[in-house]
Amino acid sequence: MTQMSLTNVTMQFGPFRALTDLSFGIERGEILGVAGPNGAGKSTLMNVCTGGLQATRGSVVFNGQDITGFKRHSRCGLGIAQTFQIPTLLSSVTVGENLLAGQIFGHEVRGAAMDIPLRDILYLTQLEDQLTLPASQADLLTRKRIMLGAALATGPEIIFMDEPLGGLNAQEIVEFLQVIRHVREELGITIVMVEHKTRALAEIADRILIINFGAFVMLDTPGVVLNDDHVVEIYLGKKHDA
Ligand SMILES: Nc1ncnc2c1ncn2[C@@H]1O[C@H](COP(=O)(O)OP(=O)(O)OP(=O)(O)O)[C@@H](O)[C@H]1O
Ligand SMILES: [Mg+2]
Repeated sequence: MTQMSLTNVTMQFGPFRALTDLSFGIERGEILGVAGPNGAGKSTLMNVCTGGLQATRGSVVFNGQDITGFKRHSRCGLGIAQTFQIPTLLSSVTVGENLLAGQIFGHEVRGAAMDIPLRDILYLTQLEDQLTLPASQADLLTRKRIMLGAALATGPEIIFMDEPLGGLNAQEIVEFLQVIRHVREELGITIVMVEHKTRALAEIADRILIINFGAFVMLDTPGVVLNDDHVVEIYLGKKHDA
């Protein structure tokens, strides 16, 4: 079942068009990968979905409701969360307080519509032993876990993750992919993740969307997308990036 659909979405920054006439749907409970070269419009696309930006033309519909003009907090209130490439945390407080802040914000914007117990979030993000760790002392993978945990604490139905694997080593990538998988499996939350590491995307995603110059190129299963001649050409030999 389609949970979010974009229809003819265009995002214009002055004379520059970062997204052009994009149309596609996100299925409830799927892991959708989004890939494309630098500057293709991936982060812009995330923001148009999560409310960091409002599409210049076209529409964004979530659970049947037109949310095109909604700001980020309103969309969070409907169950749309986002994590960022550079972890955004409350660094002066502990891991537990970061999650609590997410939960309080979630209550603020959406009432008690959906409350994921913090205990479950700590378990899923494997932060159980780090509850009292000051966030400022956390390593990169832990900071990513905290950011995901805080997003989960808002009680989302869908999470948009911008380059969640950036900066992680091979072992950490395996670990974080497992966390993301568990979030989908245990909580049924839809995951949309932008990622340059196409091999990792192929492992985790049900489908992959490719965009280039802000335009739709292809949306299909990883096997089909990553073996497509046009997609390979767009990546100019980057097909085998780890
Ligand atoms: N606020 C803005 N004002 C003007 N131009 C912008 C703005 N945000 C993004 N752009 C431009 O839109 C294009 C797409 O940017 P975006 O950050 O969405 O790309 P991306 O696919 O996420 O790239 P990367 O892989 O480097 O993260 C780029 O050319 C960028 O310079
Ligand atoms: Mg980006």
